[in-house]
Amino acid sequence: MSTGGKPRVLLMHPFLDPGPAILAEAAEVIPYPAGRPLDEASIRQAAEGCVGIVSQLMDPIRETVLSTPGLKVVSNVAVGFDNIDVAAATAHKVMVTNTPGVLDDATSDFAFTLLMATARRIVEADHFLRQGKFKGWAIDMMLGADVFGATLGLVGIGRIGRGVAHRAKGFNMRVLYYDPHPLPPDAEQQLGATRADLGRLLAESDFVSVHVPLTPETQHMLSTPQFEQMKRSAILINTSRGPVIDEAALVQALTAKKILGAGLDVYEREPAVHPGLVSMPNVVLAPHIASATTRTRSEMSAMAARNMATAARGGRPPNLVNPEVKK
Ligand code: DGY
Repeated sequence: MSTGGKPRVLLMHPFLDPGPAILAEAAEVIPYPAGRPLDEASIRQAAEGCVGIVSQLMDPIRETVLSTPGLKVVSNVAVGFDNIDVAAATAHKVMVTNTPGVLDDATSDFAFTLLMATARRIVEADHFLRQGKFKGWAIDMMLGADVFGATLGLVGIGRIGRGVAHRAKGFNMRVLYYDPHPLPPDAEQQLGATRADLGRLLAESDFVSVHVPLTPETQHMLSTPQFEQMKRSAILINTSRGPVIDEAALVQALTAKKILGAGLDVYEREPAVHPGLVSMPNVVLAPHIASATTRTRSEMSAMAARNMATAARGGRPPNLVNPEVKK
């Protein structure tokens, strides 16, 4: 498991300072071989002899990898961990950690950025101008949707959903949320958010923003029947995980003008994006960058490194997703 005393840890991808230094103090860091594909068999081969893997969300960490002898911990540099089979990890007594909290503000900011950009057609307007099409002010040019005072429906009211609700207050928005776990009454009051069932939220919202983790229950939770319930003027925002939305159904809904537009940061088959989306001017597309601020990505790196360093030293890492593995 180690040479020269320190336990070996497989680093799947370079990450940001101060992550590398924190990790190097506790472990002998083995970089994932450049150019090697990210399939499970290759990852397992690279992980032989390692106690830990520092992974990112594009790494499939499932049974094949988790059954590597001697593997004790997988530290994901992300809050989401749907790339890891946590049940298999638990069965193999492998700890799984993530990076909650530090990316809430950046991600909430970005959901609001997508909302504003889609509502006010910023990307389309920028292209229009750069293409030399701006020939002077016109009363009907680039008409968009009002944000101030509009109704915002939050699908999921975890930390990031609450962050978006907080921002919406500044825009005097009426906020509905759908979540199996209600907020305490004082939090509802503070955020000005009202719990609703999904049908009501979809029917009443001008903007629907998705903030749920990807699980078997949330996969495709927004598909044709849900788009049918939305306002024709509604805009859908997704900064959570792509497969929560049925992307083909979304393209159909947008094409049939069942909803007005979408602002997306995540996709069902990343890095592939449905070609129907790419050709639509009423859709704003970002390459999974909601948490991509310099400070946030650095804090995510530090947190993941600390999680791994603690576990590599034999301790209980702070952000353990499967606490039953290490009492
Ligand atoms: C996460 O952390 O899960 C985001 O998708 C990337 O920051």
